[in-house]
Amino acid sequence: MATSSLLLLLISSCIISALLPAASASKTRHFKWEVGYIYASPDCNEKILMGINGQFPGPTIRAKAGDTIHVELKNTLHTEGVVIHWHGIRQFGTPWADGTASISQCAIDPEETFVYRFRVEKAGTYFYHGHYGMQRAAGLYGSLIVDAADGEEEPFRYDGEFNLLLSDWYHQSIYDQMVGLSSNPLRWIGEPQTLLINGRGQYNCSLAAHPVEGSNACRPTSKDCAPVVLRVLPNKTYRLRIASTTSLSSLNLAIGNHKMVVVEADGNHVEPFTVGDIDIYSGESYSVLVTTDQNPSSNYWLSVGVRGRKPKTSPALAIVNYRPNSPSKLPESGPPMAPEWNDYNHSKSFSYRILARRGAPKPPQSADRRIVLLNTQNKIDGYTKWSINNVSLALPPTPYLGSMRYRLKNAFDAGMPPENFPPSYDVMRPPPNPNSTQSSNAYVIRLNSTVDVILQNANALAVNVSEIHPWHLHGHEFWVVGYGDGRFGEKEVARFNLKNPPLRNTVVIFPYGWTAIRFVADNPGVWAFHCHIEPHLHMGMGVIFAEGVEHVGKIPREALTCGMTAKMVMDKHRP
Ligand code: C2O
Ligand code: CU
Repeated sequence: MATSSLLLLLISSCIISALLPAASASKTRHFKWEVGYIYASPDCNEKILMGINGQFPGPTIRAKAGDTIHVELKNTLHTEGVVIHWHGIRQFGTPWADGTASISQCAIDPEETFVYRFRVEKAGTYFYHGHYGMQRAAGLYGSLIVDAADGEEEPFRYDGEFNLLLSDWYHQSIYDQMVGLSSNPLRWIGEPQTLLINGRGQYNCSLAAHPVEGSNACRPTSKDCAPVVLRVLPNKTYRLRIASTTSLSSLNLAIGNHKMVVVEADGNHVEPFTVGDIDIYSGESYSVLVTTDQNPSSNYWLSVGVRGRKPKTSPALAIVNYRPNSPSKLPESGPPMAPEWNDYNHSKSFSYRILARRGAPKPPQSADRRIVLLNTQNKIDGYTKWSINNVSLALPPTPYLGSMRYRLKNAFDAGMPPENFPPSYDVMRPPPNPNSTQSSNAYVIRLNSTVDVILQNANALAVNVSEIHPWHLHGHEFWVVGYGDGRFGEKEVARFNLKNPPLRNTVVIFPYGWTAIRFVADNPGVWAFHCHIEPHLHMGMGVIFAEGVEHVGKIPREALTCGMTAKMVMDKHRP
């Protein structure tokens, strides 16, 4: 080849790559996973739990914005189905890969394989988890981290990073728990035995700031349960990615002597603010920046404790190890003191400080529809349930995505669920008539319309009890436009924050309070919106949103092999 044409080739390829920097760099990342029960000792007590490729937590997926993730998932559980949900990933154009049993797909049968293939659009801290029965609580989870695309940058700097996936752990099996939750009288799961950081914790450990009575000295008996060590150098800035996939617990995280600057929430940049501790609810993720500017001859505790429920679980501890100190050198000062478990003002002031980073896209200035969702605890034939506008969600045998896309009759309950609750209902008192109903009906939303949802908390069945519920939306992100105490009123609409509300996928409702969100229904599919507390969802605390299902592309056959769609696939009657 002549030098001149080689030069031309070089120049033209430079032009092409300059025009398409992100596209040419994005990759498909392949994973081959097997889900199965394994023996593990996450808190020094051996149990069986759900692992992936023999690992717990499951392998971390690391990708760049714009990449395609391809996971070939084989179910090697002996007798039950499985699915995996990619929490925080929008699944735009791939609603069948959302990994929700009875909603987006049929559970994958034992020995069968399902391929999850989807794009990750936005840099951020995410995770994945089981979404069938209570499989998340059996340990089926792991991290999914998305870095900025090549040539792009996140608007903050750091020298290194750590990933902390938080969870809570019960010694009782999820089968015991599920039977108890669906028994009359209810057998509640109680508080977790141990909090875990990256799948490791110490049961009954007295190093904690507030030791639980009868606890022992912490002597990890295996490396499965040794405390996590964060090795740092003095005078550097580290990014801590923190996500919570707890079954029940709301958490608080603090590091002795160190402040944290919050920069990310659920994959979105927030206006940076400095705090001494953060609250994190199940389903949320944050990034915080920590500068190692303390006395370098000491190590420090990182502590994670329970909020919002009277703690019966010792805090989880990790060690921030200033090198070259030995990681086994005990910190000079005790673990940081957590705020009182019921100091809700502390929690609210943290939530209220989370605002979109300057320059972030603003929400539409008005909504086309408002759905008010009253959260109550109820009874159905004596069984304890959670209901939304007096409807407790019961998932149908045929996943909605298939039955709606192919217009199958009687696959789920007809009719729209209620959009509001009676004006006379007193949210400050137990329900006067606790009887509720069960249904699989769904909210059908006009494609591309803007929806406001008001999540209204209320008193539970017992007097003076109202709990925290973190709500998570699949398939979308939403703007958190307002919070308030008591009952939501029309006059609050004028006070919505439409200037810099944070964009998120999970938000909390505080006891006796309400939270308002706004989203654009621009993703054809069927999407769960539910409380992320595993036993609450299991007891019916969720709703189904469907939009533009007629625009959904070809659903993979493997997602349809159950219920009424199975027959359709076998008869090859699929339109
Ligand atoms: Cu992480 Cu439907 O949940
Ligand atoms: Cu809940």
